[in-house]
Amino acid sequence: MNRLWSEMTRRTEPYIPGEQLNRPEIIKLNTNENPYPPSPRTGEAIQREIGRLQLYPSPTADGLCQAIAERENLPADHVFVANGSDEVLAFSFMAFFDPGQTIRFPDISYSFYPVYSKLFNIPYEEVPLRESFTLNLDGFAQAEGGIILPNPNAPTGIYESLDGIREILEANPDRPVIIDEAYIDFAGPSAAVLIGEYDNLLVTRTTSKSRSLAGLRVGYALGHPGLIEALVRIKDSFNSYTLDRLAQAGAEAAFRDETYFRETTKRIVQTRNRAVEQLGALGFRVLPSSANFLFCTHPEADAEKLCEKLKGRGILVRHFSKPRIQDYLRITVGTDEQMDRLSKVLSEILCK
Ligand SMILES: Cc1ncc(COP(=O)(O)O)c(C=O)c1O
Repeated sequence: MNRLWSEMTRRTEPYIPGEQLNRPEIIKLNTNENPYPPSPRTGEAIQREIGRLQLYPSPTADGLCQAIAERENLPADHVFVANGSDEVLAFSFMAFFDPGQTIRFPDISYSFYPVYSKLFNIPYEEVPLRESFTLNLDGFAQAEGGIILPNPNAPTGIYESLDGIREILEANPDRPVIIDEAYIDFAGPSAAVLIGEYDNLLVTRTTSKSRSLAGLRVGYALGHPGLIEALVRIKDSFNSYTLDRLAQAGAEAAFRDETYFRETTKRIVQTRNRAVEQLGALGFRVLPSSANFLFCTHPEADAEKLCEKLKGRGILVRHFSKPRIQDYLRITVGTDEQMDRLSKVLSEILCK
């Protein structure tokens, strides 16, 4: 604490990101990155764009918004892009939630939501997940200030059906409902199909997971043009150029390579199903995952110690010291080879 800090700086409790140890010998299964490189078209587009770096990027990122709109079958005025979905979420908190009106999100969900709430002075209630870690839909009825929740949920990986999302929207017609779909490409249908019916629905997404672009920092939101306009107003009051030229060109190219996207996503889902069996054979209880990670617990092993031991053997996974989930590990789905190695190392640790 410093005497020159603003009240905002003093009250904030920053998010702690997963460890970024990028040594090649490390198997990194702790931040839900994609184990495959991005589409080769991304590299080509970035290369072409380098010669234009003397010019500011498009503040409206038209080419990228158009590519996303085409893929989602929506008009381009239903799309907003920013520097990672974290920035989309931060802008959304500013655009839609008011200090003094309590918002709701699940007690176990993305740990950035309480951080933004404190930063922007927005009171919040955490709606407890059921014992099975599924959403308690009744708990989201008539939320005073609005709702935000991830689907599939993080860090559980559990997917809520569109019927459930619709129930939440019906119970909150005049409040913003933000569905954070960071992991939707590994799951079932997206709530984006409901956008035409609900003008209070904002769907946020990222290219960091299914498009292998965590390092490029591109996130986006889909929603009614009235919501998109609010996000643009906030962005333009903050920084007109949140996405640089390389990010816009690279991400647009990724959205235009549907074949590569489908192939890598399919591979990850196959590896996920295989890894569930491997972990099950070692005695883990694995929650049903619709994401690119697994959330699991072992009846005889302390999760935090397991996480440390894995790190000692060169494998990073994530442990959260939080009530209800302190016995769990979140393990990103890597390649088949990485998951085989994980399974071998875990069996050695557990047998000791
Ligand atoms: C639920 C959820 N939302 C948003 C994000 C942020 O993604 P991005 O890399 O686009 O900022 C993450 C990242 O892990 C996430 O787990």
